[in-house]
Amino acid sequence: MSLVSGPGRAGASAQDLPTDLATNAHVKYIQSLNTRQDELEYWLTEHLRLNGVYWGLTALHLLGSPDALPRDATIDFVLSCQYESGGFGAAPGHDAHMLYTVSAVQVLATVDALGELDKRGKAGKEKVGKFIATLQHPTTGSFAGDEWGEYDTRFLYGALNALSLLGLLHFADVPNAVAHVQACANFDGGYGISPGAESHAGQIFTCVGALAIAGRLDLVDKDHLGMWLSERQLPNGGLNGRPEKLEDVCYSWWVLSSLAMIDRLHWIDGEKLSQFILQCQDPQEGGVADRPGDMVDVFHTVFGLSGLSLLGFPGLEQIDPI
Ligand code: FPP
Ligand code: ZN
Repeated sequence: MSLVSGPGRAGASAQDLPTDLATNAHVKYIQSLNTRQDELEYWLTEHLRLNGVYWGLTALHLLGSPDALPRDATIDFVLSCQYESGGFGAAPGHDAHMLYTVSAVQVLATVDALGELDKRGKAGKEKVGKFIATLQHPTTGSFAGDEWGEYDTRFLYGALNALSLLGLLHFADVPNAVAHVQACANFDGGYGISPGAESHAGQIFTCVGALAIAGRLDLVDKDHLGMWLSERQLPNGGLNGRPEKLEDVCYSWWVLSSLAMIDRLHWIDGEKLSQFILQCQDPQEGGVADRPGDMVDVFHTVFGLSGLSLLGFPGLEQIDPI
């Protein structure tokens, strides 16, 4: 395989399609991310740091290198982002928010360190669970991201995911959360960010994932949703997030995991999608971009690898779509 690409850029010519996953380069790319503190981008992305740790760590696990980041330093960093309320910010000094609290729980669960919350966290497991559960709206069942009250199905999925990992799902009003997801269902088979909002593959992942955690996938019109999701595949093999939009590697996760949860993964052409994802790699410097020729980043790296994992690509660990 030979690819035409400059540093940090992904891409391949049509005649020269990659068939290999650049496993070692991806591991090195992720390991390098925390050493780039002299780059402006490192500081411009500080508001995503804890999410970034989760994306990088998950990618390393998929690549079969779970120990490529130092476990103790990872746990210390996560705990340094916590507040007495139980919530976590993106980095020390950043406000607590649902999305970072979910990433904190996911990272600690990934390295089997949820017990550290009770040992040396600023708040123990139950307080983390309460921080999450009190963000649920008492009547609509939806979840806010923080005390300022923006509601979004991303927060609802994150809440159920983290509470379930903590073994505290009963802290939430799960039937009410399920009712809210039902209210976000659309006539086209998809789900939106809130009742009446346009169907979007990212929000479909959150709604179907939440129903899966709640054990209520029976409520999904699987054929109708499966049809909408399978129509996301474009002639170049990549998937978009809604009609008339461009393909993007991260939808290899949002679309594919949703199809997997409703047992319709085979409704897209997996071979063509694998080929598209492989074209988005930077085979020399590592990392995956949103589409061929663009700059790589850790977000598209983890979701590209997650898509390949769902497709059963050789050499990758299997991921749970929920
Ligand atoms: C851009 O949408 C947004 C994304 C590519 C992310 C979508 C994913 C989610 C909403 C789910 C996130 C889940 C959690 C738990 C945080 P766009 O409509 O601006 O982009 P487009 O051009 O691809 O349509
Ligand atoms: Zn994307």
